Amino acid sequence: MTGPAGSLIDRRTFLAGIVAAAVAAGCRGGDSGDAGRESGSDGSANGEAAASDLPPLPDNLPTSLFALGVASGDPLPDSVILWTRLVADPLTDGGGMPSAPVPVNWEVAIDEEFEDVVVQGATSAEPALAHSVHVDAGDLQPDTGYWYRFTVGDVTSPVGRTRTAPAADAAVDRLRFAFASCQDQQEGHWTAHEHLAAEDLDLVFFLGDYIYEDDPRTDAVRPGRTPEPVDLAGYRLRHGEYRSDPRLQAAHARFPWVCTPDDHEVDNNYAGLDEEPPQDGGSGSDPEAFRQRRAAAYQAYYEHLPLRVEPPSGGDAHIHRDLAWGALARFYVLDTRQHRTDQACARPSDIGAPCSDVADPARTILGEEQEAWLGDALAGSDATWNVLAQQVVMTRLALIPGTDDLFNLDQWDGYPASRQRVIDQLAGVTNPVVITGDIHLSGLGVVTRDGSDPTTAPVATELVGTSISSSFPAAFVDAIGAIASASPAIHYAEARHRGYVVVEVTPDELRADYRYVSTTAEPTAELSTGASWRVRAGDPVPQPA
Ligand SMILES: [Fe+2]
Repeated sequence: MTGPAGSLIDRRTFLAGIVAAAVAAGCRGGDSGDAGRESGSDGSANGEAAASDLPPLPDNLPTSLFALGVASGDPLPDSVILWTRLVADPLTDGGGMPSAPVPVNWEVAIDEEFEDVVVQGATSAEPALAHSVHVDAGDLQPDTGYWYRFTVGDVTSPVGRTRTAPAADAAVDRLRFAFASCQDQQEGHWTAHEHLAAEDLDLVFFLGDYIYEDDPRTDAVRPGRTPEPVDLAGYRLRHGEYRSDPRLQAAHARFPWVCTPDDHEVDNNYAGLDEEPPQDGGSGSDPEAFRQRRAAAYQAYYEHLPLRVEPPSGGDAHIHRDLAWGALARFYVLDTRQHRTDQACARPSDIGAPCSDVADPARTILGEEQEAWLGDALAGSDATWNVLAQQVVMTRLALIPGTDDLFNLDQWDGYPASRQRVIDQLAGVTNPVVITGDIHLSGLGVVTRDGSDPTTAPVATELVGTSISSSFPAAFVDAIGAIASASPAIHYAEARHRGYVVVEVTPDELRADYRYVSTTAEPTAELSTGASWRVRAGDPVPQPA
């Protein structure tokens, strides 16, 4: 995974000159013949811990430290980010932890029993980052499955499974990934995560709304236990509440995840770093107070996910990045929230109305820097499939077929000039595909050469995944059906089901299976495949599988 220069963790910086800390003698190499390597490296993003830099084990450390589980993410051919956050009680301010750094050992093994450990090290979990750790575990073999765990004193974490990406430009026969989004805990049980964890996958993408910021509702399916977050302590509590769910923990522990936030990680329908606070309550009207709230939200997001990015500073979190799966696929992880112009017509309702400033070419959903980065990255790609992993719907949706009434100005329809610039970039690459969350429905669209005219030539296939648990307003289900049946760009739309999408990619074809759970009102559910579609290489128009 690479990104704009200087924006991501520079592994060389971390690896160079780092004394292998707490590396056990006899650490053995993997299958590739590097047995005998006796020094590991600690690429922790939370501190470059040489053995002499490690803090002492604090007195009176809780005996339960891994209440939020473990996770991995953002794999490269030779490394993966390993995550945990030390916390005894996620619903207590400070997590029940001492306000001191804590030494954490980590191990990566070929086998689940950890008899063949290939790399290990130590780092420091800092209270300034809520005792979270992000270890960049390097010196791994490409396209290889591993197991990992953490140890603090004599307390050992649950075991996670992960894998590395294939070598750059390697011929890859098959990639299986899932994508998901929108897990409002109050609106349902995460039955989908239980089934997601049982899938045969290489990778999971989570495309936003990992938490919801709403106040607890007593009439909810799962009433919230923490107040609406407005500061760092509050967002940590909310992430801790969400991450306490065993099904979510199981899905994280099973596969590496690639995550990008949307609006609810901060506040509903918020826009841009320099825009006014949303006017839906909770954020007040003071821009400086909202800036502080936003900074707290992004810091807590970083602290709770296995992101290969720098810790946010000053409220600016660098999210966009790319990831390659050999020569088969390249993913461009976008951030359509932090850098966007405010929504047109001041504030959109869920159903927007056309207004004169929508078409202003100065309006942007990616921001100038991200848009330029994406253009450069796409132009330099030799991948067979080029996938934008992002939040909001790019296919044009008209509320009233044949008119310009737009469905939702929070989505790419509210930024048509920005969308057109990206389409111009996509038109030059091989097999562009967009994967999307946000809208709580399953869909399949085609992004067309003129982004605002669905009768023009198809450029990219868009797969829209439904929510894990967030509801779709019942009053709009019929409207979605009408839009879908009237638009030549929309091939499938289904708003009644929650779930996720499994995508299998080969050099010749991309196949999408839309997985639906039978309920989110109960803790367990049946799983079914509600629809299956395929996209042949060279033809962005999908066909039923
Ligand atoms: Fe959502």
